[in-house]
Amino acid sequence: MAKSVLVQSSLAKKYWMALTGLFLCVFLLGHVAGNLQLFLPDGSLQFNAYAKFMTTNPLVKILSYLTYFSILFHAVDGILLTLQNRKARGNNSYAKNNTAANSTWASQNMAVLGTVLLVFIVTHMTNFWAKMHFAEMPLDAAGNKDLYRITVEFFTNKEFGLYAVVFYVLAMLALAFHLSHGFLSAFQSLGLRHKKYTPILAKLGLAFAWLVPLLFALMPIYLFISK
Ligand code: HEM
Repeated sequence: MAKSVLVQSSLAKKYWMALTGLFLCVFLLGHVAGNLQLFLPDGSLQFNAYAKFMTTNPLVKILSYLTYFSILFHAVDGILLTLQNRKARGNNSYAKNNTAANSTWASQNMAVLGTVLLVFIVTHMTNFWAKMHFAEMPLDAAGNKDLYRITVEFFTNKEFGLYAVVFYVLAMLALAFHLSHGFLSAFQSLGLRHKKYTPILAKLGLAFAWLVPLLFALMPIYLFISK
């Protein structure tokens, strides 16, 4: 009885990990698309108007709260699931010796990669989101908060700009590995398997896992080199 509850709760945790993880993938797609405006030669006014819309539109606000909730839930659930799996594996030497047989490096290191990403998200939100929401900000020619300037100044800062760029690129490498296992794994956890469509989804997942972090990584590099 106790065991079945354990299995059930572990399944429930995987289910919620999958749902919150897929929602965060949608967030990443929107975030990377919006931030592509950083590559525009004279994109500051446009980027700031976009940032204003993203922080004031009521519908986007609801999506933002869902994003914060998903990050927290995904992280806490991931930690609990890892501890639970470790405990179960500790009692089972066969499982312990066979984990590496049919799994990738990313799948074995999801907890470490997730922890790196959590550290990244906390520092990232402290540097941008918290400033946009709570700090005194310079205004642009249209009277909007100049988030573009804050972003450029962050990555071109004489003291820490280069370190920030390196940190962002390394974090995006962690994101790519995390997504390269997590994307397809989420569909498996939801029980969505199909002879024809799963291999297609695996290819799409791999493309998503590397393309989105690559675009994100190019942003600080571009700002560092060109500004
Ligand atoms: C390297 C490229 C990136 C740049 C230049 C960037 C820039 C920004 C900026 C300027 C904001 C503040 C916008 C606002 O508050 O309206 C923001 C918010 C945020 N970023 Fe990023 N970001 C990048 C990558 C990422 C990645 C890879 C993640 C997640 C893994 C992420 C997660 C977030 C979250 C959760 C918020 C808060 C969103 C909200 O309030 O709805 N960012 N980012």
